[in-house]
Amino acid sequence: MAYVSTMKTGPLKKGTGLGIDRLQALQAFNARLVCMTVNESSYDEVVTGVWKVLGCDACALFLLDEGAKELVMVGSVGYPDVSADLRISLDDVGSIHAQSLNEEYLIHVEDLNGGGGAKILSPRFADNLVMPIISNSGPVGVFDFASFDAGTFDPQEIGMCSMLVDQMSYSLENIRLVGELSQSRDAVIRGMALLAEIRDPHIGGHLNRICEHANLLSERLAGRPGYQEVTHEFMQTISRAAALHDVGKVGIPDSILMKPGKLSEAEFEVMKTHTLVGSDLLEGLRHSFGDFPMIAMGVDVAMGHHEWWDGSGYPRGAKGRKIPLAARILAICDVYDALTSIRVYKEAWTHADTEKTIRGAAGSQFDPDLVDIFFEDLEELFKVRENFPD
Ligand code: C2E
Ligand code: SIN
Ligand code: SIN
Ligand code: FE
Repeated sequence: MAYVSTMKTGPLKKGTGLGIDRLQALQAFNARLVCMTVNESSYDEVVTGVWKVLGCDACALFLLDEGAKELVMVGSVGYPDVSADLRISLDDVGSIHAQSLNEEYLIHVEDLNGGGGAKILSPRFADNLVMPIISNSGPVGVFDFASFDAGTFDPQEIGMCSMLVDQMSYSLENIRLVGELSQSRDAVIRGMALLAEIRDPHIGGHLNRICEHANLLSERLAGRPGYQEVTHEFMQTISRAAALHDVGKVGIPDSILMKPGKLSEAEFEVMKTHTLVGSDLLEGLRHSFGDFPMIAMGVDVAMGHHEWWDGSGYPRGAKGRKIPLAARILAICDVYDALTSIRVYKEAWTHADTEKTIRGAAGSQFDPDLVDIFFEDLEELFKVRENFPD
């Protein structure tokens, strides 16, 4: 016989009978929620945290997909026979998960023979609890708790579950907000990079190729002596920040940027300001969005990609390892791609001529170690142009 009870979630008795171990576990869980870095695995962390604090046999987190009118399982622990991409329609009349969300009720299904008529996630479990997660804007998902033993979820235990779910609704809201912020941040940054490119119809895959080259070169640097700063994060960051090196070209007048022939000295002086315009733009972004690695590196590459190893570049005449590594990498990737591409002012060069010119400038214009490493694997270089043609 199934014993099914539903009740409104309301103020439940809190803090009764909490052993010191569990209080400590709860404390640790809350601390983790607060300082958790937010990414795809965040939901699994939340679910695992709850599972550890509660010591139940299985649990799962479902979030509302409003467009599809479905509950989507985003994390679970202890459910070996539940598919990882489980979706439950809100119109599924028999579903206790859909019902719990729709009615904003807590649903408790206790049955020794696997749920009776109620649709629980797995017949292995004798005691099941489904709670709606309610944020300021209404229900956002449900949390599912399960135990092999009937009688696990007594009122005291339900109080504990309710506390955890309250806690979670705050952190889910944070995960959502941070996700939105980082999406809009990426959109703004990509938009800025594209803005600079859109005025030059020949540039095409230039940005993609440069990002790819910068990523390949930094992958080869990782683990070499003297390149401790090339971490996994550095590689991820440079493969996006590379697109920002020329954002400052938005500030250069068309008459100079699009000039079919050679620039006069005065025009080239104006052109050189694209390094400062770009780094100023990104500094502004850093003030409004915060000090994110991608923006910080964007400042470095915008400012430093035309500096020369021997100190005779612009805008500052920075020299050697005083030029940030990301900028020294970009200097090579930028010139390699500029030479092998058509520009309004030049034809495309062959790889052989380009390699010869860049090798010839190793130690004057370019960091000589980086030049050697850049030309270590030509197949990889050629593949980048195949994958991202103009
Ligand atoms: P860009 O077209 O993206 O070129 C980037 C860098 O590639 C150049 O930085 C330069 O180091 C290298 N590069 C490009 N073409 C040649 C070349 O024919 N020979 C050699 N040895 N290196 C080359 P640079 O010189 O600081 O120029 C920065 C930007 O100024 C260029 O970006 C381009 O937008 C503009 N620019 C430079 N020279 C001319 C020009 O003669 N005419 C026009 N219209 N624009 C120019
Ligand atoms: C740069 O110009 O590449 C930044 C280093 C500096 O000059 O401070
Ligand atoms: C230049 O200053 O002429 C270009 C230097 C560079 O692309 O690194
Ligand atoms: Fe540039």
